[in-house]
Amino acid sequence: MTAPTQDTAAAFRLAWSGADPGPTDHATRPAEAAIATRPVPLARDGDGTGALLALSLAADPDRVVGGVRLRRVPSAGGRYPVDARVGGRVHDPLAHALDGGPATPDRAAPGRAAPDRTEPDRAEPGAHADVVLDLVPERTVWRYGPRSLPVLLLDLGHAAAAVLAAAATLRRPRTAHLVPDGAHSRVVLTTGPAPDDAVGLGASADPHPAAVLRARRSAPFENLRPPVADPGLDRVARTRLGAGQHAAVLGAGHPLLAALTRRACGLPDLTGVGGLLVVTGDVDPGPDTVAQHVRASLAVHDAWLAATAAGLAARPVGCWVEAVLRGPGGRGRVQHALALGG
Ligand SMILES: Cc1cc2nc3c(=O)[nH]c(=O)nc-3n(C[C@H](O)[C@H](O)[C@H](O)COP(=O)(O)O)c2cc1C
Repeated sequence: MTAPTQDTAAAFRLAWSGADPGPTDHATRPAEAAIATRPVPLARDGDGTGALLALSLAADPDRVVGGVRLRRVPSAGGRYPVDARVGGRVHDPLAHALDGGPATPDRAAPGRAAPDRTEPDRAEPGAHADVVLDLVPERTVWRYGPRSLPVLLLDLGHAAAAVLAAAATLRRPRTAHLVPDGAHSRVVLTTGPAPDDAVGLGASADPHPAAVLRARRSAPFENLRPPVADPGLDRVARTRLGAGQHAAVLGAGHPLLAALTRRACGLPDLTGVGGLLVVTGDVDPGPDTVAQHVRASLAVHDAWLAATAAGLAARPVGCWVEAVLRGPGGRGRVQHALALGG
């Protein structure tokens, strides 16, 4: 892997410094979803592309909070900066449709004839078509400003983890490959060979029932109370981590919980939670720091599904201000965490 560009390293440092994003200007709020201009509806059942996306990235038909339609996948601040493409066609997660391509004369490229309006809708891509996850950074930057880069990469990892988990559930496992490029990093989920220059993130793990994927959600912090019978979440998380990363569950009342509360953006009260799964990695930006953030959220997502399957409640914490811990493996910066409750 190559060293991060100076821009990427500077963006990590700025985010970790806790630079204030300032007041949120609602007049400039970007749409938090790709909108298919010619939506071709996808199936929700079966084991094809439609079912895969319905179980991983599509809006949950039953959940709307503060005007935002929540999805199967979580996202920091509900900003949903990850778009999915299958066979080059963008997924509209709200309509659960793929874009059927240009259809009107005004959308034709300059100097070229408009496509035939009577062109039949294109069929659903085959179940082995690659799923490509792209970041749309402005959706998150609008809200998080200088704090955006880590949470963008964490959101990308959650989306990848959601697709891997849904693929496992449908018994069509995939592997995930990261093309690291700062806030323009992307993940390709394949059933075949890896793309060139990509970093392997691993394959679908053992399947959960579809009901577990549908039940995943962020519980309010005040509902996350002891006792927690930890089903081995640190072990689940570690399977997704790379060199220089560590995962541990801090139990209820652990002295570090107060210190971490002071360093979490928005100061959620972590002192009373039933447990906190913490993932740490590079203290300073290095060649692996982008990949580490994506791995950290794969780890937290898998642990969250395991917690859900075990009947625990959870909520992730993704924005940290200068949170560096010293543990048995040396110093590590907190990259992501999952608060747990019984
Ligand atoms: C990477 C990431 C970081 C998050 N960080 C926080 C956080 O610091 N504080 C918080 O209250 N919620 C956090 N959340 C939870 C989101 O607010 C939540 O996922 C979103 O509102 C959608 O709700 P759902 O998870 O129930 O589907 C985070 C989620 C993700 C994916």
